[in-house]
Amino acid sequence: MKEVRLIAGFVILQGTGLPFNRYAWLTTHNSFARLGQIRSPFGTPNVSPRNQQDTVAQQLNNGVRGLMLDMYDYQNDIWLCHSYGGNCYNYTAFVPAIEVLKEINVFLEANPSEVITIFIEDYVTSPMGLPKVFNASGLMKYWFPVSRMPKNGGDWPLLSDMIKSNLRLLVFTSKSWKENKEGIAYEWRYVVENQYGTLGMTMGSCPNRAESAPMSTVSRSLVLVNYFPDIPDFATACKKNSAPLLDMLNTCHNLSNRWANYIAVDFYKRSDGGGAAEATDVSNARLICGCSNLSSCKANGSFGNCDVPEARPAPRTSNSTGVLTGTSSSSGFMLNSWLKLVLVKIMLLNACLL
Ligand SMILES: *[C@@H]1O[C@H](CO)[C@@H](O)[C@H](O)[C@H]1NC(C)=O
Ligand SMILES: *[C@@H]1O[C@H](CO)[C@@H](O)[C@H](O)[C@H]1NC(C)=O
Ligand SMILES: *[C@@H]1O[C@H](CO)[C@@H](O)[C@H](O)[C@H]1NC(C)=O
Ligand SMILES: *[C@@H]1O[C@H](CO)[C@@H](O)[C@H](O)[C@H]1NC(C)=O
Ligand SMILES: *[C@@H]1O[C@H](CO)[C@@H](O)[C@H](O)[C@H]1NC(C)=O
Ligand SMILES: *[C@@H]1O[C@H](CO)[C@@H](O)[C@H](O)[C@H]1NC(C)=O
Repeated sequence: MKEVRLIAGFVILQGTGLPFNRYAWLTTHNSFARLGQIRSPFGTPNVSPRNQQDTVAQQLNNGVRGLMLDMYDYQNDIWLCHSYGGNCYNYTAFVPAIEVLKEINVFLEANPSEVITIFIEDYVTSPMGLPKVFNASGLMKYWFPVSRMPKNGGDWPLLSDMIKSNLRLLVFTSKSWKENKEGIAYEWRYVVENQYGTLGMTMGSCPNRAESAPMSTVSRSLVLVNYFPDIPDFATACKKNSAPLLDMLNTCHNLSNRWANYIAVDFYKRSDGGGAAEATDVSNARLICGCSNLSSCKANGSFGNCDVPEARPAPRTSNSTGVLTGTSSSSGFMLNSWLKLVLVKIMLLNACLL
């Protein structure tokens, strides 16, 4: 058996004083398709592929902030299914959407400084189907309105302002017509996204998915990097979520000059070390302070004013919320007053044995 250990935590440098588009978020692909749920609620065996190991509530507690949910009309309701042909079946159905949306609501209520993004792969055609189910889940009060989203690649509001105004839920749909008709942001008006699936894992390339503008398009403020195969693979996810994921992050940056705001993977807990959480740290370091690693971001340092990692102790020594202390105070952007360290507790495999 593989050895499993609980790593004390990954430090995510998460001040709130920057525009939302200057942060990176760990994202799960098909967040709802969980290993272990072998039957649909009807008792039918559920034959669809599984992409994650734990529930959405557990993912959120572990630091996941981006969720990819496939939503379908089914049984006179909205369901999360992993299906095909735009239809949900009793053997591809996981759970009524409202159950997972309620888990998200519970988390946002308990964690008033957290912001969550939902990407909907949207097969819902019933009129107002999504607004109704979000409304019923209690999440509508957190809904960040489309009217406030930057349309031409401008900066998003400050994360701190989103928190203050309690607009802490971003929802994107894959259906363009829903933006005007139902007030749900059409994802690719705001986000560039690379090719998903096996093709998207080709080393050295980072093409956009068909619906998205090219990855370098600056009129979209947010960047999503997918890194998972067509068929979810628990065994290879360990290796793939390790060095190859970091490599893809760099490739996408090298080819488009953009760092990912969302890093989407299968089996987000699997890696031989830091994994997807570390990749998110790296993107955060690039976006927040312009450094290659969070441990080289300086307290109160201006953008791009970095310590070499060896120059001072890494900040990942404390378990508790705290403030980075550093030695430099340049007149540039003041990071420190907003800084807090958040520990993301993640179960990690310490080696990829498969
Ligand atoms: C599942 O759906 C099929 C038709 O698609 C039906 O024949 C079958 O009885 C259903 N099974 C259950 C347990 O509802
Ligand atoms: C949302 O719920 C409120 C009160 O529960 C109701 O007045 C409103 O019509 C609902 N909106 C939608 C789109 O269902
Ligand atoms: C990205 O570019 C840097 C600088 O040119 C280079 O050192 C690095 O190997 C490149 N990484 C990838 C994954 O292409
Ligand atoms: C970031 O820095 C820490 C501490 O110096 C180091 O352990 C880790 O490997 C670095 N991560 C990357 C991706 O370079
Ligand atoms: C972190 O917390 C764990 C459990 O609460 C404790 O055993 C450990 O000593 C702490 N480590 C540090 C560096 O504070
Ligand atoms: C960073 O800035 C804060 C507030 O601006 C200040 O209180 C703190 O002493 C500064 N820290 C360092 C290390 O300069």
